[in-house]
Amino acid sequence: MRSTLLAFCALIGATFAPAAVQAQATPDAFAGSWIFDGAPSYPGVTMMQVSDDGGHLAGTVTTAWYGAMPMADVHRQGDTLSFTMRNINDAKAPTQVWTARLAGGGVHLKGKIWSTEHEEDGRRGTAEEAAARTFHATELPQAHVLAPNGLAKTPPMGWSSWNAFADHIDDATVRAMADYLVSSGLRDAGYRYVNIDDGWQGERDASGVLQPNSRFPDMKALADYVHARGLKLGIYSSQGPKTCAGYPGSYGHVEQDARTFAGWGVDYLKYDLCSGEWFYADRDTVLRSYYEMGAALRATRRDILYSLCEYGRFDVGEWGVSVGGNLWRTTGDITDTWGDMARIGFDHNGKPEWAGPGHWNDPDMLEIGNGGMKATEYRTHMTLWAMSAAPLLMGQDLRKTTPEALAILSNRAVIAVDQDRLGIQGHAVRKDGTSEVWSKPLADGSVAVALFNRGDAPTRITLAATDAGRPRLTSIRDLWTGKSASSSATGFMVPAHGSVLLKVR
Ligand code: GLA
Repeated sequence: MRSTLLAFCALIGATFAPAAVQAQATPDAFAGSWIFDGAPSYPGVTMMQVSDDGGHLAGTVTTAWYGAMPMADVHRQGDTLSFTMRNINDAKAPTQVWTARLAGGGVHLKGKIWSTEHEEDGRRGTAEEAAARTFHATELPQAHVLAPNGLAKTPPMGWSSWNAFADHIDDATVRAMADYLVSSGLRDAGYRYVNIDDGWQGERDASGVLQPNSRFPDMKALADYVHARGLKLGIYSSQGPKTCAGYPGSYGHVEQDARTFAGWGVDYLKYDLCSGEWFYADRDTVLRSYYEMGAALRATRRDILYSLCEYGRFDVGEWGVSVGGNLWRTTGDITDTWGDMARIGFDHNGKPEWAGPGHWNDPDMLEIGNGGMKATEYRTHMTLWAMSAAPLLMGQDLRKTTPEALAILSNRAVIAVDQDRLGIQGHAVRKDGTSEVWSKPLADGSVAVALFNRGDAPTRITLAATDAGRPRLTSIRDLWTGKSASSSATGFMVPAHGSVLLKVR
């Protein structure tokens, strides 16, 4: 019986190799490099690589945004390979299932990352094609504490291109903004930085030096133009391979880019986590990635104000100073709506203890004058940012500034509250339903007190001496009207979504 079974097995073995032996002899059909030509730019899949280690399949999907993303839980069933990928920015779906299906000699890849689902067809690639698409990961340095750079003793003021222009920005427009800052008197009111946000980048040259795109023919000449008008130039990059708008980021070129910016005469860098959030997804790596650029800026020996844009993650205010930061965003992006502006300005503007001369919470750029809010709401926007010692970075097309918006933005008494040299971030001392009373001590011994009405109907808000931390008030001045006000107990009528800003003694 036993010999019959052995003979039977020998016969089978001669015709059909056992599965394990077969896998060793012929690698899995998925093994190798698959090339994706012309995949959509986000996340820009360029290659899938699968290895077969004695039947154990592993692999990566390489993308322009996130480099070589490792596959997990890889399973093969019939002609389909399924695996999971770490997802970003979606705590509810920390992983996503992807599939690759063999079809007509090629592969059909399907998966979702963050909010975008993609599907693309790949073909088998050669070793040379694979080498050309290989992503070269870089190591982050260990972080040390950088001494303060001495900049931004008061919150930075200026203009930034993003809110009005997104990435449709060019040299001529930036020059026009610089001209307007001078002719309108806004420069002399304190608005000094002219910041080019995302959208200026071209490609890297053969030595890896990042070039501006054709809309910015000569960055150095642009910096000279801005400087000649008593202004300073800001620029933008990301620690990932791509910026938020899909332009080249500084990944793998951090020191080189810092040198390029310094060489052009740049005075301000906004460094935006964006595609870097795939690589740097915890406090330690995010901190070190900001340190990497902070140290690189320092090494240029040029005074470059450093703005951290990581949307307030990982308590950035606790460590932003140590990596050389002068300001750090406290939230995601503002929009030109009362709801968003109020949500950020009242409730997500960073802890007051994080702010002070040289280092500020940044609730994002101003929307004043962009048209989405009423004048009363824009005045509240300005009052909130001034009370918060927030950076005042205008975000409208300056050439279209209405007299009303100009009056809001250039009110010197309100700006003085923001720019007060004590650098104390004000906060709510009293809340009652939709009314809030905020206080901010000033260097001259007076106190700025703001009465806010977040509600949809006018309301009366009383002022108490204790709001200013004083036993009694001897003088009250309304900074929007410029008039003295009485301290009568009847309080102030505050319109819906409105504010009253007082300087009291
Ligand atoms: C992010 C930032 C914005 C802006 C854009 C540019 O969304 O938070 O402020 O810089 O990127 O792409």
